[in-house]
Amino acid sequence: MTTVKIALLGFGTVGSSVYQTIQTRQSKFERLIGRKVEIVGVLIQNEAKHRDIAEGILVTSSFEELISIPEIDVIIEAINGAEPGAGYLHRALEKGIHVVTANKELLANQGNALRESADNGKARLKFEAAVAGGVPVIGTLQQLLQVNDISNVEAILNGTSNYILTEIATNRVSFQEALQSAQKLGYAEADPGNDIDGWDAFYKLMILSDLLLGQQPEWTQVARRGIRGITLADILAVESAGWRIKPVASFRLKEGKARLLVEPMAVPAGHPLYEVSGVDNAVFIHGDLAGNLKLQGPGAGALPTASAILEDFV
Ligand code: HSE
Repeated sequence: MTTVKIALLGFGTVGSSVYQTIQTRQSKFERLIGRKVEIVGVLIQNEAKHRDIAEGILVTSSFEELISIPEIDVIIEAINGAEPGAGYLHRALEKGIHVVTANKELLANQGNALRESADNGKARLKFEAAVAGGVPVIGTLQQLLQVNDISNVEAILNGTSNYILTEIATNRVSFQEALQSAQKLGYAEADPGNDIDGWDAFYKLMILSDLLLGQQPEWTQVARRGIRGITLADILAVESAGWRIKPVASFRLKEGKARLLVEPMAVPAGHPLYEVSGVDNAVFIHGDLAGNLKLQGPGAGALPTASAILEDFV
């Protein structure tokens, strides 16, 4: 049986979970793709740190060394920020190595340029994990809603923000306590400002815009407000009227004009996002043929993200 060779970029919460899952699901992969799956190298930042990686796998902080491994088939990328990942992925794609990435910031900045590199190298670029974690929204939009005209998407795209607001409301804790709990659970970004200032949801919304419109609006024209500063008192005030505050990202297309925004929004009972709580993300889509659809599930966390990455890989 031949082997698919994977190089893994990043060994944090997501990277290590991808690694573990590949090691423990070999027979499943063999059944699905008829080939063995082997991780041949891992790119890490700090070589001094101990990691549970099997002997025989190259562990290096040098991308040059990693990319020199002969016959890599697929790169799985799970590192933070647009750089240095963008340079690595362009190199890989141009070389014909397929890429699966979870990196929303990188895709929001470089999505179309990466697609060009993928075309040049006749490689594939997959990014289900970059939007809404384990919820298969990218595949649904790319494959299952192509004929529909999509005029409205209303979504919760940041699990950390939804978790924090839910924690405050349910357990009557402070914003800071809820944030610390999200960090402990591995939901928050390395810099939680990305979550609570709305950047993470903004990047994901730009990726959706690329898919829905083939382009993004001027970033400065998109209102972006995170949940930083929302207090227990705000939540209680809204709750007393029977509403809830949700971290909403929305896309509306009216008479050919798109309006995108990211903001905390009070929603009444019965709204499609009202019941979406904890780390869950949800994407409510209106397609002119399909009608109203809602996809919901865990939007952050090691295993749901690894799930989306590995489904893409297969
Ligand atoms: N920090 C992100 C979130 C991780 O909370 O949604 C998944 O992209």
